[in-house]
Amino acid sequence: MRLKIIGTGSYLPEKIATNDDMAQLVETSDEWIRTRTGIGQRHLVSSSEENTTYMAVQAAKRALAASGLRAEEIDVILVATVSGDYVTPSTACMVQRELQAVNAASFDINAACAGFLFGLNTVDAYFRSGIYKTAIIIGVETLSKIVDWSDRSTCVLFGDGAGAVVAKADENGMLACLQGSDGTHADVLTCKARTNNNPYISTSKELDYVYMNGQEVFKFAVRKVPECLELLLQGTDFSPEDVDYYLLHQANYRILTSIAKKLNLPMEKFPSNVDRCGNTSAASIPILMDEMNRQGQLKEGNLLFLSGFGGGLTWGAALLKW
Ligand code: UT7
Repeated sequence: MRLKIIGTGSYLPEKIATNDDMAQLVETSDEWIRTRTGIGQRHLVSSSEENTTYMAVQAAKRALAASGLRAEEIDVILVATVSGDYVTPSTACMVQRELQAVNAASFDINAACAGFLFGLNTVDAYFRSGIYKTAIIIGVETLSKIVDWSDRSTCVLFGDGAGAVVAKADENGMLACLQGSDGTHADVLTCKARTNNNPYISTSKELDYVYMNGQEVFKFAVRKVPECLELLLQGTDFSPEDVDYYLLHQANYRILTSIAKKLNLPMEKFPSNVDRCGNTSAASIPILMDEMNRQGQLKEGNLLFLSGFGGGLTWGAALLKW
């Protein structure tokens, strides 16, 4: 048995901040942001109640309703996030409580923008081994609380939101998947947690914010995604042209065009919502998937290639039949 997606859901905060709004905060312009990234606006949380847990729960409820499963039928809940509301409990446990998914083992995954793919990989392995039969996988981020709103090189890029899928063990669905990481490049994208602090050591209590060497991540993504595709297609009869849609992490439209060019494929195969949502990290792929699903763009039997990449460095990919 393997992973098959049977329901999708997403949540985007109502508050929209345009590029012109960004230009009120830092020295930037709509022109720079659009031409360098393809981003036109981003959704941002705008109350203390609208937090990571809340967004994850909304997305999960929608996915669950679409799947036809009841909350108590879910065996495992995985939440990919780097911006949970608590160090403990995990966001997944908070989601479990809100859904009353009383039978689900629940935990978070920290793999930055590749987190949702790590979630799919993990659940697929559980299904293949027979350990579990149903799952909710969520990507959610409130990156707006960990970016430095005076740093124009990062604050204009990110948005908040959540995407979720419900999956069940099935004979169809996931064809192949992979995940990987390279900690030797850990310093390319960072945000420090609390530093040592006890009666014997006291260090600065200043909070850290997201730092990113954008060009390094850009080059890594454009190299890694085609490598992942090649690996996953090996052993199948499919070629890159056979893939109906490439649902890639929505970091920058130029990354998508560079990958499409490298693969010699038309942009119609690379759906994108980065213009409306910005970079929502672990949430970007499930949000995009839910939007396409609800618009009826995903047809039964479609071949999809998913790939996420980001801090760690981390990467993940999946080849699946819808
Ligand atoms: O989701 C996790 C994974 N993350 C990614 O995949 C992000 C990948 N990287 C990128 O998307 C791009 O590298 C960025 C959008 C982050 C940056 O684009 P870039 O074309 O690599 O620009 P750059 O960092 O080389 O900066 C070019 C110039 C610099 O000025 P100088 O040094 O040439 O004078 C920056 O200071 O643009 C300047 N700049 C800005 N100017 C106006 C940087 N941010 C801004 C800004 N507005 N917001």
